[in-house]
Amino acid sequence: MYRYDQYDHQIIQERVAQFRDQVRRRISDELTEDEFRILRLQNGLYMQRHAYMHRIAVPYGMLSSKQMHMLAHIARKYDRGYGHFTTRQNIQYNWIKLEEAPAILADLATVEMHAIQTSGNCVRNISSDQFAGVAADEIIDPRPYCEILRQWSTFHPEFAYLPRKFKIAINGAVEDRAAIGMHDIGLTVVKNDQGEIGFRVMVGGGLGRTPLIGATIREFLPWQHALTYIEAILRVYNQHGRRDNIYKARIKILLKALGAEEFARQVEAEWVDLKDSEATLTVEELQRVAACFTAPAYLTLPASDAAYEQEKATNKAFANWVMRNVKAHKVPGYAAVVLSLKKTGVPPGDITADQMDFVADLADRYSFGELRSAHEQNLILADVRQADLVSLWKEAKAHGLATPNIGLLTDMICCPGGDFCSLANAKSIPIAGAIAERFDNLDFLHDIGEIELNISGCINACGHHHIGNIGILGVDKDGSEWYQVSLGGAQGNDIAVGKIIGPSFSAGQMPEVIDRILQVYVRERTEDEKFIDTVRRLGIAPFKEYVYATPIKTELQHGEDAYA
Ligand code: HEM
Ligand code: SF4
Repeated sequence: MYRYDQYDHQIIQERVAQFRDQVRRRISDELTEDEFRILRLQNGLYMQRHAYMHRIAVPYGMLSSKQMHMLAHIARKYDRGYGHFTTRQNIQYNWIKLEEAPAILADLATVEMHAIQTSGNCVRNISSDQFAGVAADEIIDPRPYCEILRQWSTFHPEFAYLPRKFKIAINGAVEDRAAIGMHDIGLTVVKNDQGEIGFRVMVGGGLGRTPLIGATIREFLPWQHALTYIEAILRVYNQHGRRDNIYKARIKILLKALGAEEFARQVEAEWVDLKDSEATLTVEELQRVAACFTAPAYLTLPASDAAYEQEKATNKAFANWVMRNVKAHKVPGYAAVVLSLKKTGVPPGDITADQMDFVADLADRYSFGELRSAHEQNLILADVRQADLVSLWKEAKAHGLATPNIGLLTDMICCPGGDFCSLANAKSIPIAGAIAERFDNLDFLHDIGEIELNISGCINACGHHHIGNIGILGVDKDGSEWYQVSLGGAQGNDIAVGKIIGPSFSAGQMPEVIDRILQVYVRERTEDEKFIDTVRRLGIAPFKEYVYATPIKTELQHGEDAYA
Protein backbone atom coordinates (compact mmCIF):
# COMPACT_ATOMS: atom_id res chain seq x y z
CA MET A 1 0.00 0.00 0.00
CA TYR A 2 1.25 3.52 -0.75
CA ARG A 3 2.92 5.25 2.22
CA TYR A 4 3.25 9.03 2.44
CA ASP A 5 6.70 10.52 1.90
CA GLN A 6 7.87 13.68 3.69
CA TYR A 7 6.25 15.94 1.07
CA ASP A 8 2.87 14.26 1.41
CA HIS A 9 3.06 14.64 5.18
CA GLN A 10 4.00 18.28 4.95
CA ILE A 11 1.29 19.16 2.42
CA ILE A 12 -1.42 17.48 4.48
CA GLN A 13 -0.26 19.07 7.76
CA GLU A 14 -0.24 22.49 6.15
CA ARG A 15 -3.71 21.96 4.78
CA VAL A 16 -5.02 20.98 8.22
CA ALA A 17 -3.56 24.15 9.76
CA GLN A 18 -4.99 26.27 6.96
CA PHE A 19 -8.45 24.77 7.35
CA ARG A 20 -8.35 25.16 11.13
CA ASP A 21 -7.84 28.87 10.62
CA GLN A 22 -10.58 29.06 8.00
CA VAL A 23 -13.06 27.39 10.37
CA ARG A 24 -12.00 29.74 13.15
CA ARG A 25 -12.66 32.71 10.90
CA ARG A 26 -16.05 31.35 9.86
CA ILE A 27 -17.12 30.75 13.46
CA SER A 28 -16.07 34.28 14.45
CA ASP A 29 -17.93 35.60 11.38
CA GLU A 30 -14.81 36.98 9.73
CA LEU A 31 -15.86 34.84 6.77
CA THR A 32 -19.42 34.78 5.46
CA GLU A 33 -21.04 31.42 4.64
CA ASP A 34 -20.63 32.27 0.96
CA GLU A 35 -16.92 32.90 1.37
CA PHE A 36 -16.48 29.82 3.51
CA ARG A 37 -18.46 27.43 1.32
CA ILE A 38 -15.76 26.83 -1.26
CA LEU A 39 -13.14 26.45 1.46
CA ARG A 40 -15.05 23.76 3.31
CA LEU A 41 -15.93 21.92 0.09
CA GLN A 42 -12.24 21.79 -0.73
CA ASN A 43 -11.96 19.79 2.46
CA GLY A 44 -14.90 17.50 1.77
CA LEU A 45 -17.29 19.21 4.17
CA TYR A 46 -20.89 19.50 2.93
CA MET A 47 -23.89 21.10 4.58
CA GLN A 48 -26.63 18.50 4.67
CA ARG A 49 -30.22 18.34 5.85
CA HIS A 50 -29.46 18.03 9.56
CA ALA A 51 -25.76 18.54 10.00
CA TYR A 52 -22.44 18.73 8.20
CA MET A 53 -21.36 15.68 6.22
CA HIS A 54 -17.66 14.95 5.92
CA ARG A 55 -16.45 12.88 2.95
CA ILE A 56 -13.07 11.26 3.46
CA ALA A 57 -10.97 10.10 0.51
CA VAL A 58 -10.11 6.42 0.28
CA PRO A 59 -7.77 6.26 -2.73
CA TYR A 60 -8.99 3.43 -5.02
CA GLY A 61 -10.59 1.88 -1.95
CA MET A 62 -7.37 0.82 -0.18
CA LEU A 63 -7.28 1.03 3.62
CA SER A 64 -4.80 -0.20 6.20
CA SER A 65 -6.07 -1.65 9.46
CA LYS A 66 -4.57 1.37 11.22
CA GLN A 67 -6.60 3.69 9.02
CA MET A 68 -9.75 1.67 9.66
CA HIS A 69 -9.19 1.97 13.42
CA MET A 70 -8.90 5.72 12.96
CA LEU A 71 -12.15 5.79 10.99
CA ALA A 72 -13.76 3.97 13.94
CA HIS A 73 -12.32 6.52 16.34
CA ILE A 74 -13.73 9.37 14.25
CA ALA A 75 -17.16 7.72 14.08
CA ARG A 76 -17.15 7.37 17.86
CA LYS A 77 -15.68 10.70 18.84
CA TYR A 78 -17.13 13.10 16.27
CA ASP A 79 -20.15 11.31 14.79
CA ARG A 80 -22.95 9.11 16.10
CA GLY A 81 -20.91 5.93 16.11
CA TYR A 82 -21.09 4.94 12.44
CA GLY A 83 -19.94 5.82 8.93
CA HIS A 84 -21.23 5.24 5.40
CA PHE A 85 -19.21 3.75 2.53
CA THR A 86 -20.12 5.36 -0.77
CA THR A 87 -20.33 4.26 -4.38
CA ARG A 88 -17.01 6.01 -5.01
CA GLN A 89 -15.15 3.86 -2.47
CA ASN A 90 -14.99 6.77 0.01
CA ILE A 91 -16.44 7.04 3.50
CA GLN A 92 -18.84 9.71 4.72
CA TYR A 93 -19.86 10.82 8.20
CA ASN A 94 -23.27 12.38 8.52
CA TRP A 95 -23.33 14.13 11.89
CA ILE A 96 -20.29 16.39 11.99
CA LYS A 97 -19.97 19.64 13.92
CA LEU A 98 -18.22 22.41 12.06
CA GLU A 99 -15.95 23.28 14.98
CA GLU A 100 -14.71 19.69 15.12
CA ALA A 101 -13.95 19.26 11.41
CA PRO A 102 -10.31 20.49 11.69
CA ALA A 103 -9.67 18.00 14.50
CA ILE A 104 -11.03 15.21 12.28
CA LEU A 105 -8.62 16.19 9.52
CA ALA A 106 -5.75 16.37 12.03
CA ASP A 107 -6.58 12.89 13.30
CA LEU A 108 -6.82 11.57 9.75
CA ALA A 109 -3.46 13.11 8.85
CA THR A 110 -1.80 10.92 11.49
CA VAL A 111 -2.80 7.87 9.43
CA GLU A 112 -2.09 9.42 6.02
CA MET A 113 -5.66 10.31 5.10
CA HIS A 114 -7.46 13.51 4.17
CA ALA A 115 -10.58 14.91 2.50
CA ILE A 116 -8.91 16.95 -0.23
CA GLN A 117 -10.57 16.81 -3.67
CA THR A 118 -13.53 14.82 -2.38
CA SER A 119 -15.64 17.72 -3.60
CA GLY A 120 -15.28 20.57 -6.07
CA ASN A 121 -14.68 20.78 -9.80
CA CYS A 122 -11.43 18.86 -9.80
CA VAL A 123 -10.22 15.32 -10.41
CA ARG A 124 -11.90 13.29 -7.66
CA ASN A 125 -10.89 10.03 -6.02
CA ILE A 126 -9.43 7.62 -8.58
CA SER A 127 -11.49 4.45 -8.33
CA SER A 128 -10.68 0.89 -9.26
CA ASP A 129 -11.50 -2.79 -8.96
CA GLN A 130 -11.82 -3.83 -5.31
CA PHE A 131 -9.97 -7.05 -6.21
CA ALA A 132 -7.05 -5.22 -7.85
CA GLY A 133 -3.82 -7.13 -7.43
CA VAL A 134 -5.46 -10.41 -6.43
CA ALA A 135 -8.20 -11.14 -8.98
CA ALA A 136 -7.82 -14.40 -10.86
CA ASP A 137 -8.79 -12.69 -14.14
CA GLU A 138 -6.39 -9.77 -13.81
CA ILE A 139 -4.18 -8.71 -16.73
CA ILE A 140 -2.03 -6.49 -14.52
CA ASP A 141 -2.46 -4.75 -11.18
CA PRO A 142 -3.91 -1.29 -11.93
CA ARG A 143 -3.03 0.21 -8.52
CA PRO A 144 0.39 1.67 -9.43
CA TYR A 145 -1.33 3.59 -12.23
CA CYS A 146 -4.13 4.66 -9.89
CA GLU A 147 -1.52 5.95 -7.45
CA ILE A 148 0.46 7.76 -10.15
CA LEU A 149 -2.75 9.41 -11.30
CA ARG A 150 -3.63 10.30 -7.72
CA GLN A 151 -0.28 11.98 -7.14
CA TRP A 152 -0.44 13.76 -10.48
CA SER A 153 -4.01 15.02 -10.06
CA THR A 154 -3.82 16.08 -6.40
CA PHE A 155 -3.40 19.86 -6.41
CA HIS A 156 -2.81 19.89 -10.18
CA PRO A 157 -2.89 23.66 -10.70
CA GLU A 158 -4.28 23.54 -14.22
CA PHE A 159 -7.17 21.25 -13.32
CA ALA A 160 -8.27 22.65 -9.96
CA TYR A 161 -11.19 24.47 -11.55
CA LEU A 162 -12.64 22.35 -14.30
CA PRO A 163 -16.15 23.02 -15.62
CA ARG A 164 -17.37 20.24 -13.30
CA LYS A 165 -16.16 17.39 -11.10
CA PHE A 166 -14.09 14.76 -12.86
CA LYS A 167 -14.00 11.04 -12.16
CA ILE A 168 -11.43 8.56 -13.40
CA ALA A 169 -11.50 4.78 -12.93
CA ILE A 170 -9.00 2.11 -13.94
CA ASN A 171 -9.71 -1.56 -14.42
CA GLY A 172 -6.91 -4.09 -14.78
CA ALA A 173 -8.94 -7.28 -15.19
CA VAL A 174 -10.87 -9.00 -17.96
CA GLU A 175 -14.16 -8.35 -16.14
CA ASP A 176 -14.92 -4.70 -15.43
CA ARG A 177 -15.61 -4.34 -11.71
CA ALA A 178 -14.94 -0.60 -11.57
CA ALA A 179 -17.89 0.59 -13.70
CA ILE A 180 -15.39 2.30 -16.01
CA GLY A 181 -18.09 3.03 -18.59
CA MET A 182 -19.78 5.53 -16.29
CA HIS A 183 -16.70 7.58 -15.55
CA ASP A 184 -15.48 10.76 -17.18
CA ILE A 185 -12.40 8.75 -18.13
CA GLY A 186 -12.38 4.97 -17.86
CA LEU A 187 -9.11 3.17 -18.50
CA THR A 188 -8.88 -0.56 -19.14
CA VAL A 189 -5.52 -2.27 -19.02
CA VAL A 190 -4.87 -4.17 -22.27
CA LYS A 191 -1.98 -6.07 -23.77
CA ASN A 192 -1.25 -5.68 -27.49
CA ASP A 193 -0.03 -8.40 -29.86
CA GLN A 194 3.55 -7.75 -28.80
CA GLY A 195 2.61 -8.29 -25.16
CA GLU A 196 3.09 -4.59 -24.32
CA ILE A 197 0.91 -2.99 -21.67
CA GLY A 198 -1.38 -0.12 -22.50
CA PHE A 199 -4.86 1.28 -21.91
CA ARG A 200 -8.13 1.35 -23.79
CA VAL A 201 -9.38 4.87 -23.18
CA MET A 202 -13.08 5.57 -22.68
CA VAL A 203 -14.36 9.11 -22.21
CA GLY A 204 -17.68 10.74 -21.46
CA GLY A 205 -19.49 8.26 -19.27
CA GLY A 206 -21.59 9.46 -16.36
CA LEU A 207 -24.94 9.06 -14.70
CA GLY A 208 -27.00 11.93 -13.30
CA ARG A 209 -29.49 13.84 -15.41
CA THR A 210 -28.08 12.63 -18.73
CA PRO A 211 -26.86 9.07 -18.23
CA LEU A 212 -24.31 8.11 -20.88
CA ILE A 213 -21.91 5.23 -21.32
CA GLY A 214 -18.40 6.39 -22.22
CA ALA A 215 -17.11 6.16 -25.80
CA THR A 216 -13.80 4.52 -26.62
CA ILE A 217 -11.53 7.16 -28.13
CA ARG A 218 -8.35 5.09 -28.26
CA GLU A 219 -7.99 1.34 -28.39
CA PHE A 220 -4.39 1.20 -27.23
CA LEU A 221 -2.45 3.87 -25.39
CA PRO A 222 1.04 2.73 -24.33
CA TRP A 223 1.26 3.04 -20.53
CA GLN A 224 4.11 5.57 -20.72
CA HIS A 225 1.67 8.11 -22.14
CA ALA A 226 -1.12 7.76 -19.57
CA LEU A 227 -0.55 11.16 -17.95
CA THR A 228 0.11 13.19 -21.08
CA TYR A 229 -2.92 11.73 -22.84
CA ILE A 230 -5.21 12.36 -19.89
CA GLU A 231 -3.77 15.85 -19.73
CA ALA A 232 -4.76 16.34 -23.37
CA ILE A 233 -8.30 15.13 -22.64
CA LEU A 234 -8.58 17.45 -19.64
CA ARG A 235 -7.29 20.40 -21.65
CA VAL A 236 -9.90 19.93 -24.36
CA TYR A 237 -12.56 19.66 -21.67
CA ASN A 238 -11.23 22.58 -19.63
CA GLN A 239 -11.30 24.78 -22.69
CA HIS A 240 -14.58 23.74 -24.29
CA GLY A 241 -16.72 22.34 -21.44
CA ARG A 242 -19.98 24.25 -20.79
CA ARG A 243 -19.30 26.52 -17.83
CA ASP A 244 -22.51 28.44 -18.51
CA ASN A 245 -24.85 25.62 -17.51
CA ILE A 246 -24.17 23.26 -14.59
CA TYR A 247 -26.43 20.60 -16.09
CA LYS A 248 -24.39 20.58 -19.27
CA ALA A 249 -20.96 20.99 -17.76
CA ARG A 250 -19.75 17.40 -17.63
CA ILE A 251 -17.36 16.09 -20.27
CA LYS A 252 -20.07 13.67 -21.44
CA ILE A 253 -22.08 16.60 -22.82
CA LEU A 254 -19.07 17.99 -24.68
CA LEU A 255 -18.31 14.58 -26.11
CA LYS A 256 -21.92 14.14 -27.16
CA ALA A 257 -22.02 17.58 -28.77
CA LEU A 258 -18.80 17.04 -30.73
CA GLY A 259 -19.21 13.34 -31.45
CA ALA A 260 -16.62 10.82 -30.29
CA GLU A 261 -14.58 11.05 -33.49
CA GLU A 262 -14.22 14.84 -33.44
CA PHE A 263 -13.54 14.77 -29.71
CA ALA A 264 -10.80 12.19 -30.22
CA ARG A 265 -9.34 14.28 -33.04
CA GLN A 266 -9.13 17.32 -30.79
CA VAL A 267 -7.50 15.28 -28.04
CA GLU A 268 -4.92 13.86 -30.44
CA ALA A 269 -4.21 17.38 -31.74
CA GLU A 270 -3.72 18.65 -28.20
CA TRP A 271 -1.55 15.66 -27.43
CA VAL A 272 0.96 16.48 -30.19
CA ASP A 273 2.56 19.09 -27.91
CA LEU A 274 2.30 16.99 -24.76
CA LYS A 275 3.44 13.62 -26.06
CA ASP A 276 6.94 12.76 -24.85
CA SER A 277 7.00 15.82 -22.60
CA GLU A 278 8.28 15.55 -19.04
CA ALA A 279 5.09 13.91 -17.74
CA THR A 280 5.85 10.85 -19.87
CA LEU A 281 6.13 7.90 -17.51
CA THR A 282 9.40 6.03 -17.23
CA VAL A 283 10.13 2.51 -16.09
CA GLU A 284 11.88 3.98 -13.00
CA GLU A 285 8.85 6.04 -12.04
CA LEU A 286 6.50 3.13 -12.54
CA GLN A 287 8.78 0.90 -10.46
CA ARG A 288 9.04 3.51 -7.71
CA VAL A 289 5.28 3.51 -7.28
CA ALA A 290 4.75 -0.19 -8.05
CA ALA A 291 7.09 -1.00 -5.15
CA CYS A 292 4.26 0.11 -2.82
CA PHE A 293 2.06 -2.63 -4.23
CA THR A 294 4.33 -5.64 -4.14
CA ALA A 295 2.60 -8.88 -3.20
CA PRO A 296 2.51 -9.63 0.54
CA ALA A 297 4.45 -12.60 1.91
CA TYR A 298 2.14 -15.34 0.62
CA LEU A 299 2.83 -18.85 1.81
CA THR A 300 3.27 -21.68 -0.64
CA LEU A 301 0.01 -23.57 -0.23
CA PRO A 302 -1.86 -26.32 -2.03
CA ALA A 303 -4.47 -25.03 -4.48
CA SER A 304 -7.23 -26.29 -2.22
CA ASP A 305 -7.36 -26.79 1.53
CA ALA A 306 -8.83 -30.14 2.64
CA ALA A 307 -10.49 -28.98 5.88
CA TYR A 308 -12.07 -26.03 4.08
CA GLU A 309 -13.41 -28.27 1.30
CA GLN A 310 -14.76 -30.65 3.93
CA GLU A 311 -16.63 -27.87 5.77
CA LYS A 312 -18.02 -26.60 2.49
CA ALA A 313 -19.34 -30.04 1.66
CA THR A 314 -21.06 -30.54 5.01
CA ASN A 315 -22.12 -27.11 6.23
CA LYS A 316 -24.77 -25.50 4.01
CA ALA A 317 -24.65 -22.08 5.66
CA PHE A 318 -20.90 -21.93 5.19
CA ALA A 319 -21.18 -23.18 1.61
CA ASN A 320 -23.74 -20.46 0.84
CA TRP A 321 -21.43 -17.82 2.21
CA VAL A 322 -18.49 -19.19 0.22
CA MET A 323 -20.58 -19.29 -2.96
CA ARG A 324 -21.60 -15.63 -2.66
CA ASN A 325 -18.94 -13.85 -0.61
CA VAL A 326 -15.68 -15.65 -1.38
CA LYS A 327 -13.91 -14.82 -4.64
CA ALA A 328 -11.13 -16.52 -6.57
CA HIS A 329 -7.55 -15.44 -5.86
CA LYS A 330 -4.62 -15.67 -8.21
CA VAL A 331 -2.37 -17.21 -5.55
CA PRO A 332 -3.03 -20.92 -4.81
CA GLY A 333 -4.60 -21.57 -1.40
CA TYR A 334 -5.84 -17.98 -0.95
CA ALA A 335 -9.21 -16.30 -1.45
CA ALA A 336 -10.67 -12.79 -1.39
CA VAL A 337 -13.58 -12.29 1.00
CA VAL A 338 -16.38 -9.77 0.71
CA LEU A 339 -17.73 -8.60 4.07
CA SER A 340 -21.35 -7.70 3.42
CA LEU A 341 -22.51 -4.28 4.63
CA LYS A 342 -26.03 -5.25 3.55
CA LYS A 343 -27.58 -6.95 6.53
CA THR A 344 -31.35 -6.52 6.61
CA GLY A 345 -32.26 -3.61 8.82
CA VAL A 346 -29.03 -1.71 8.19
CA PRO A 347 -28.79 1.04 5.54
CA PRO A 348 -26.58 -0.21 2.68
CA GLY A 349 -22.96 0.85 3.18
CA ASP A 350 -23.36 1.77 6.85
CA ILE A 351 -20.89 0.38 9.37
CA THR A 352 -20.63 1.00 13.11
CA ALA A 353 -17.47 2.08 14.91
CA ASP A 354 -17.31 -1.30 16.67
CA GLN A 355 -17.60 -3.10 13.35
CA MET A 356 -14.83 -0.89 11.93
CA ASP A 357 -12.52 -1.85 14.78
CA PHE A 358 -13.51 -5.45 14.32
CA VAL A 359 -12.80 -5.53 10.56
CA ALA A 360 -9.46 -3.79 11.18
CA ASP A 361 -8.58 -6.64 13.57
CA LEU A 362 -9.75 -9.18 11.02
CA ALA A 363 -7.47 -7.54 8.44
CA ASP A 364 -4.52 -7.86 10.82
CA ARG A 365 -5.21 -11.46 11.61
CA TYR A 366 -6.33 -12.71 8.22
CA SER A 367 -5.28 -10.35 5.44
CA PHE A 368 -1.86 -8.71 5.88
CA GLY A 369 -3.37 -5.67 7.62
CA GLU A 370 -5.26 -4.39 4.57
CA LEU A 371 -8.87 -3.81 3.56
CA ARG A 372 -10.63 -2.44 0.53
CA SER A 373 -13.96 -0.74 -0.06
CA ALA A 374 -16.04 -1.61 -3.12
CA HIS A 375 -18.25 0.74 -5.12
CA GLU A 376 -21.12 -1.62 -4.27
CA GLN A 377 -20.66 -0.43 -0.67
CA ASN A 378 -19.08 -3.55 0.83
CA LEU A 379 -15.65 -4.27 2.34
CA ILE A 380 -13.06 -6.76 1.15
CA LEU A 381 -10.34 -8.80 2.84
CA ALA A 382 -8.26 -9.53 -0.23
CA ASP A 383 -5.72 -12.10 0.97
CA VAL A 384 -7.30 -14.75 3.16
CA ARG A 385 -5.93 -18.28 3.41
CA GLN A 386 -8.53 -20.88 2.51
CA ALA A 387 -7.64 -22.64 5.75
CA ASP A 388 -8.79 -19.55 7.69
CA LEU A 389 -12.13 -19.14 5.96
CA VAL A 390 -14.19 -21.12 8.45
CA SER A 391 -12.99 -19.20 11.49
CA LEU A 392 -13.21 -15.89 9.62
CA TRP A 393 -16.79 -16.70 8.63
CA LYS A 394 -17.79 -17.50 12.20
CA GLU A 395 -16.32 -14.27 13.52
CA ALA A 396 -17.75 -12.10 10.75
CA LYS A 397 -21.15 -13.70 11.26
CA ALA A 398 -21.10 -12.86 14.95
CA HIS A 399 -20.56 -9.20 14.00
CA GLY A 400 -23.30 -9.03 11.34
CA LEU A 401 -20.87 -8.91 8.42
CA ALA A 402 -21.35 -12.32 6.84
CA THR A 403 -24.76 -12.05 5.19
CA PRO A 404 -24.32 -14.43 2.22
CA ASN A 405 -25.89 -12.04 -0.27
CA ILE A 406 -23.12 -10.59 -2.44
CA GLY A 407 -24.53 -10.03 -5.94
CA LEU A 408 -28.05 -10.96 -4.81
CA LEU A 409 -31.19 -8.85 -4.48
CA THR A 410 -30.46 -7.58 -0.98
CA ASP A 411 -26.89 -6.53 -1.86
CA MET A 412 -28.39 -3.22 -2.93
CA ILE A 413 -26.61 -0.02 -3.74
CA CYS A 414 -28.41 2.88 -2.10
CA CYS A 415 -27.63 6.57 -1.66
CA PRO A 416 -28.42 8.35 1.65
CA GLY A 417 -31.49 9.97 0.06
CA GLY A 418 -33.95 12.15 1.93
CA ASP A 419 -32.89 10.96 5.37
CA PHE A 420 -29.72 13.00 5.03
CA CYS A 421 -29.24 14.57 1.64
CA SER A 422 -30.50 18.09 1.04
CA LEU A 423 -30.78 17.42 -2.70
CA ALA A 424 -33.09 14.41 -2.35
CA ASN A 425 -36.55 14.22 -3.89
CA ALA A 426 -37.42 11.20 -1.81
CA LYS A 427 -36.08 8.89 0.84
CA SER A 428 -34.13 5.89 -0.38
CA ILE A 429 -32.87 4.07 2.73
CA PRO A 430 -36.41 3.08 3.89
CA ILE A 431 -37.21 1.74 0.40
CA ALA A 432 -34.08 -0.43 0.56
CA GLY A 433 -35.13 -1.46 4.07
CA ALA A 434 -38.69 -2.41 3.08
CA ILE A 435 -37.50 -4.45 0.09
CA ALA A 436 -34.82 -6.19 2.16
CA GLU A 437 -37.42 -7.10 4.76
CA ARG A 438 -39.92 -8.39 2.22
CA PHE A 439 -37.29 -10.67 0.66
CA ASP A 440 -35.47 -11.64 3.83
CA ASN A 441 -35.38 -15.30 2.81
CA LEU A 442 -32.03 -16.71 1.81
CA ASP A 443 -33.36 -19.69 -0.10
CA PHE A 444 -35.48 -17.41 -2.22
CA LEU A 445 -32.62 -14.96 -2.76
CA HIS A 446 -30.26 -17.73 -3.83
CA ASP A 447 -32.91 -19.11 -6.16
CA ILE A 448 -33.44 -15.71 -7.81
CA GLY A 449 -29.68 -15.49 -8.27
CA GLU A 450 -27.61 -12.55 -9.40
CA ILE A 451 -29.48 -9.30 -9.64
CA GLU A 452 -28.48 -5.71 -9.04
CA LEU A 453 -30.95 -3.41 -7.37
CA ASN A 454 -29.80 0.20 -7.16
CA ILE A 455 -31.63 3.10 -5.52
CA SER A 456 -31.12 6.86 -5.74
CA GLY A 457 -33.11 9.56 -3.97
CA CYS A 458 -32.83 11.96 -6.90
CA ILE A 459 -31.66 12.20 -10.48
CA ASN A 460 -28.05 12.89 -9.45
CA ALA A 461 -27.78 9.11 -9.38
CA CYS A 462 -25.38 8.68 -6.47
CA GLY A 463 -27.02 5.26 -6.00
CA HIS A 464 -26.25 4.23 -9.62
CA HIS A 465 -29.93 3.51 -10.30
CA HIS A 466 -29.43 3.83 -14.06
CA ILE A 467 -27.09 0.85 -14.16
CA GLY A 468 -29.03 -1.37 -11.76
CA ASN A 469 -30.75 -4.42 -13.33
CA ILE A 470 -33.63 -2.91 -11.39
CA GLY A 471 -33.22 0.80 -10.80
CA ILE A 472 -35.31 2.86 -8.39
CA LEU A 473 -35.33 6.63 -8.58
CA GLY A 474 -37.00 8.89 -6.05
CA VAL A 475 -39.09 11.58 -7.71
CA ASP A 476 -41.10 14.47 -6.36
CA LYS A 477 -44.70 14.89 -7.49
CA ASP A 478 -46.57 17.81 -6.02
CA GLY A 479 -44.52 17.69 -2.89
CA SER A 480 -44.85 13.97 -2.21
CA GLU A 481 -42.38 11.15 -2.65
CA TRP A 482 -42.74 8.72 -5.57
CA TYR A 483 -40.53 6.12 -7.15
CA GLN A 484 -39.77 5.47 -10.79
CA VAL A 485 -38.62 1.98 -11.76
CA SER A 486 -36.28 1.04 -14.60
CA LEU A 487 -35.17 -2.36 -15.88
CA GLY A 488 -32.23 -3.61 -17.92
CA GLY A 489 -29.44 -1.47 -16.53
CA ALA A 490 -26.16 -3.25 -15.90
CA GLN A 491 -22.58 -2.71 -14.82
CA GLY A 492 -19.63 -4.81 -15.92
CA ASN A 493 -18.47 -5.49 -19.45
CA ASP A 494 -22.00 -5.15 -20.83
CA ILE A 495 -22.72 -1.89 -19.05
CA ALA A 496 -26.14 -0.47 -19.98
CA VAL A 497 -28.62 2.18 -18.88
CA GLY A 498 -32.01 0.81 -17.83
CA LYS A 499 -35.39 1.70 -19.35
CA ILE A 500 -38.20 3.22 -17.29
CA ILE A 501 -41.20 0.88 -17.15
CA GLY A 502 -43.93 3.47 -16.63
CA PRO A 503 -45.63 5.76 -14.08
CA SER A 504 -44.08 5.94 -10.63
CA PHE A 505 -45.20 4.25 -7.41
CA SER A 506 -45.69 5.23 -3.79
CA ALA A 507 -43.22 4.06 -1.16
CA GLY A 508 -45.71 1.54 0.21
CA GLN A 509 -46.15 -0.08 -3.22
CA MET A 510 -42.45 -0.66 -3.88
CA PRO A 511 -41.94 -4.10 -2.29
CA GLU A 512 -44.92 -5.45 -4.26
CA VAL A 513 -43.58 -3.89 -7.47
CA ILE A 514 -40.30 -5.73 -6.98
CA ASP A 515 -42.20 -8.90 -6.17
CA ARG A 516 -44.18 -8.69 -9.41
CA ILE A 517 -41.03 -8.07 -11.45
CA LEU A 518 -39.46 -11.14 -9.87
CA GLN A 519 -42.59 -13.21 -10.52
CA VAL A 520 -42.33 -12.47 -14.24
CA TYR A 521 -38.67 -13.44 -14.16
CA VAL A 522 -39.36 -16.73 -12.38
CA ARG A 523 -42.14 -17.51 -14.86
CA GLU A 524 -40.16 -16.65 -17.97
CA ARG A 525 -36.57 -17.60 -17.20
CA THR A 526 -34.90 -20.46 -18.99
CA GLU A 527 -32.72 -22.77 -16.93
CA ASP A 528 -29.78 -20.93 -15.34
CA GLU A 529 -30.78 -17.66 -17.00
CA LYS A 530 -29.84 -14.62 -14.95
CA PHE A 531 -32.39 -11.89 -14.36
CA ILE A 532 -30.59 -9.42 -16.60
CA ASP A 533 -30.46 -11.95 -19.44
CA THR A 534 -34.19 -12.58 -19.21
CA VAL A 535 -34.82 -8.84 -19.37
CA ARG A 536 -32.47 -8.56 -22.34
CA ARG A 537 -34.16 -11.45 -24.14
CA LEU A 538 -37.75 -10.34 -23.53
CA GLY A 539 -37.43 -6.58 -23.26
CA ILE A 540 -39.31 -4.66 -20.56
CA ALA A 541 -42.81 -5.23 -22.01
CA PRO A 542 -43.86 -8.39 -20.10
CA PHE A 543 -42.61 -6.92 -16.83
CA LYS A 544 -44.38 -3.66 -17.44
CA GLU A 545 -47.61 -5.42 -18.36
CA TYR A 546 -47.69 -7.53 -15.21
CA VAL A 547 -46.62 -4.79 -12.80
CA TYR A 548 -49.41 -2.47 -13.98
CA ALA A 549 -52.04 -5.17 -14.71
CA THR A 550 -53.86 -4.78 -11.40
CA PRO A 551 -53.64 -1.94 -8.89
CA ILE A 552 -51.14 -2.45 -6.10
CA LYS A 553 -52.94 -2.13 -2.81
CA THR A 554 -51.24 -0.29 -0.04
CA GLU A 555 -52.60 0.70 3.31
CA LEU A 556 -51.50 4.23 2.62
CA GLN A 557 -53.17 7.07 0.85
CA HIS A 558 -51.89 7.85 -2.61
CA GLY A 559 -48.45 9.39 -2.43
CA GLU A 560 -48.28 9.21 1.32
CA ASP A 561 -44.86 8.36 2.61
CA ALA A 562 -45.01 4.97 4.26
CA TYR A 563 -41.96 5.68 6.33
CA ALA A 564 -42.52 9.20 7.53
C1 HEM B 1 -23.74 15.28 0.60
C2 HEM B 1 -24.23 14.26 -0.06
C3 HEM B 1 -24.15 14.27 -1.56
C4 HEM B 1 -24.31 15.27 -2.43
C5 HEM B 1 -24.61 16.72 -2.12
C6 HEM B 1 -24.14 14.72 -3.74
C7 HEM B 1 -24.26 15.42 -4.91
C8 HEM B 1 -24.20 14.87 -6.14
C9 HEM B 1 -24.52 15.54 -7.33
C10 HEM B 1 -24.96 16.99 -7.44
C11 HEM B 1 -24.36 14.66 -8.35
C12 HEM B 1 -24.62 14.90 -9.80
C13 HEM B 1 -23.44 15.30 -10.48
C14 HEM B 1 -23.65 15.52 -11.92
O1 HEM B 1 -24.39 16.42 -12.30
O2 HEM B 1 -23.07 14.77 -12.67
C15 HEM B 1 -23.90 13.44 -7.78
C16 HEM B 1 -23.58 12.32 -8.48
C17 HEM B 1 -23.02 11.21 -7.92
N1 HEM B 1 -22.73 11.03 -6.59
FE1 HEM B 1 -23.31 12.19 -5.11
N2 HEM B 1 -23.88 13.41 -3.63
C18 HEM B 1 -23.87 13.09 -2.30
C19 HEM B 1 -23.66 11.88 -1.73
C20 HEM B 1 -23.18 10.80 -2.43
C21 HEM B 1 -23.04 9.52 -1.87
C22 HEM B 1 -23.36 9.12 -0.43
C23 HEM B 1 -22.57 8.74 -2.85
C24 HEM B 1 -22.39 7.27 -2.78
C25 HEM B 1 -23.24 6.48 -2.06
C26 HEM B 1 -22.37 9.57 -4.03
C27 HEM B 1 -21.87 9.14 -5.25
C28 HEM B 1 -22.20 9.78 -6.43
C29 HEM B 1 -22.12 9.14 -7.72
C30 HEM B 1 -21.56 7.76 -8.00
C31 HEM B 1 -22.65 10.03 -8.65
C32 HEM B 1 -22.83 9.81 -10.13
C33 HEM B 1 -21.60 10.18 -10.81
C34 HEM B 1 -21.71 10.48 -12.24
O3 HEM B 1 -22.72 10.96 -12.76
O4 HEM B 1 -20.72 10.25 -12.91
N3 HEM B 1 -22.78 10.82 -3.73
N4 HEM B 1 -23.81 13.59 -6.44
S1 SF4 C 1 -28.80 10.69 -5.49
FE1 SF4 C 1 -29.63 12.61 -4.85
S2 SF4 C 1 -30.56 12.10 -2.89
FE2 SF4 C 1 -29.08 10.51 -3.28
S3 SF4 C 1 -27.20 11.24 -2.31
FE3 SF4 C 1 -27.15 11.83 -4.44
S4 SF4 C 1 -27.84 13.90 -4.43
FE4 SF4 C 1 -28.52 12.99 -2.51
